[in-house]
Amino acid sequence: MDRTLHATLYVVGNINVDLIMSTLHHWPAPGTEAMLEHSELRPGGSAGNCALALDAMQVPHRAVANQGSDGFASWLAGYFPNSAGHWPRYPCETSLTVAVTHPDDERSFISNQGHIVRLSADDVLQQLPPQAKPGDIVLLCGTFLCTRLLEAYPALLATLQQRGFRVAVDTGWPPQDWSDVLRQQLSGWLAHCDWLLLNEVETLGFAGLATLEECARSLATRLSGKGACVVKCGSAGAKLWQPDGHLQAAARAVTVIDTIGAGDSFNAGFLSALLGGETAQTALRWGVEVAAYAISSSPRQYPNWRTLQQRIKEC
Ligand SMILES: Nc1ncnc2c1ncn2[C@@H]1O[C@H](COP(=O)(O)OP(=O)(O)OP(=O)(O)O)[C@@H](O)[C@H]1O
Ligand SMILES: [Mg+2]
Repeated sequence: MDRTLHATLYVVGNINVDLIMSTLHHWPAPGTEAMLEHSELRPGGSAGNCALALDAMQVPHRAVANQGSDGFASWLAGYFPNSAGHWPRYPCETSLTVAVTHPDDERSFISNQGHIVRLSADDVLQQLPPQAKPGDIVLLCGTFLCTRLLEAYPALLATLQQRGFRVAVDTGWPPQDWSDVLRQQLSGWLAHCDWLLLNEVETLGFAGLATLEECARSLATRLSGKGACVVKCGSAGAKLWQPDGHLQAAARAVTVIDTIGAGDSFNAGFLSALLGGETAQTALRWGVEVAAYAISSSPRQYPNWRTLQQRIKEC
């Protein structure tokens, strides 16, 4: 990769507090308490995880977000020193998610709404340059959680394209589940999107067709034509569909410790490669390497630039 390039990756969306509590054997009955052995407090959210990975990799980036005004707001901002000075402050609680781990490693999540539902298109556009530099990419993530921003997606994505950005979107799973009404709403911006980054069940839900291949191919044909539909397939790695072709990369075999943010780490690796002018095939490889590194670390760590390059060379 040509490290003299000065393109920037702008990560737009949900940055929140994650509190992971483990291990819960039985939910406490109402009015009672359960004391668990471990907890881990860390910054999270799709945009937050991706920006932290980019920071570790020393990839030029900015986290484009907003913030609340309680005690957690400055704690969270402290993890994003180069970006948080630009975040508008809303008089509300910080968005936070409590993840409770069960003995079978399944997790239950409890979240408030907080600041992320207030992020507006103006907040985003004011934090982006009026004109993209060659190669700049904007990633929009946490689509269904940033509810106010979602309403503005068709106009926002059109504006991003006009400003010259390459545009990537990772929607995540809609809490209200997929429906024809939702699919109709999303089709309003697909043509302004270059790279769609989904996992398998999201791809099936988004396109609503019978097989993964049909779904991914159908989505790929509705995008701008400059990118692809990328499908993250867990331990099976990642695949990518363009209207006229298909690529894939196997996952690296690792001991998995914590898969939270696997997809966000993949996005960081994949888009860093594109930022540096690498091919889509190489980008898939970078995505699976960064994800594998993240999910096999404890406490959570991301590779630095040298480590990533060494790992890519090894495979
Ligand atoms: N068990 C695993 N072993 C190796 N790599 C994995 C494993 N699980 C996930 N990965 C890597 O992480 C990437 C993203 O994971 P996944 O497909 O679960 O995405 P996701 O569902 O979007 O994740 P998230 O839960 O963060 O939203 C995969 O494409 C793969 O490269
Ligand atoms: Mg995901």
